[in-house]
Amino acid sequence: MAHLVAPSLLSADFLRLEQEIGMVNRSEADWLHLDIMDGVFVPNISFGFPILEKIKGSVQKPMDVHLMIVDPDRYIERFRKAGADIISVHYEACTHLHRTIHLIRGTGAKAAVALNPHTPVHLLKDVITELDMVLLMSVNPGFGGQKFISRVYSKARELKAIIRESGSSAMIEVDGGVDLNNARPLIDAGVDILVAGNTIFGSAHPEETISGLKKC
Ligand code: DX5
Ligand code: ZN
Repeated sequence: MAHLVAPSLLSADFLRLEQEIGMVNRSEADWLHLDIMDGVFVPNISFGFPILEKIKGSVQKPMDVHLMIVDPDRYIERFRKAGADIISVHYEACTHLHRTIHLIRGTGAKAAVALNPHTPVHLLKDVITELDMVLLMSVNPGFGGQKFISRVYSKARELKAIIRESGSSAMIEVDGGVDLNNARPLIDAGVDILVAGNTIFGSAHPEETISGLKKC
């Protein structure tokens, strides 16, 4: 399968949201990545339901919602209603992860678990067959434009082996510091979806940058 590219809206110009979404619609991007931060799980606050609901009405690509919030169970149904097609919860934020995964699946959304840079991939062995995707963080979550942590290459390879051995069909997404230089090595390590914020929205020609990431 060819890899997917998911621009992360966190780095977009929020005064020009309509144009930014239009650019994503016209581009070769596969998904739109949306970062929800609560100021508790991560030291930053982003945006919430009113913004997502507006985006749902104008984006023509699946909405990939990355929840960086504590106790996500409380809000999963609402994120689904606000337009989420894929919902990622953090391993570190879920006490009863198996229950949370099934809560997501029950809404009809695809279920994913995100791992912080310090969290080993083997911790997902017992739920891997129930997941549609694993999100490997290649920065500490909370901010765009941070330095890529290259340890994620070996984590992706290890996770790919776990997925193969288990017969799971989970895809691997990498988020944080992705650029035109590390994109190909990430794909070679088994990554299926590249999330990129600053690399895309910070570039002079975002649509071409997206094409560049697709061609890697
Ligand atoms: C960070 C977010 C990322 C962020 C990536 O906590 O999860 O999705 O937007 O931004 P870049 O690609 O600039 O590192
Ligand atoms: Zn993200």
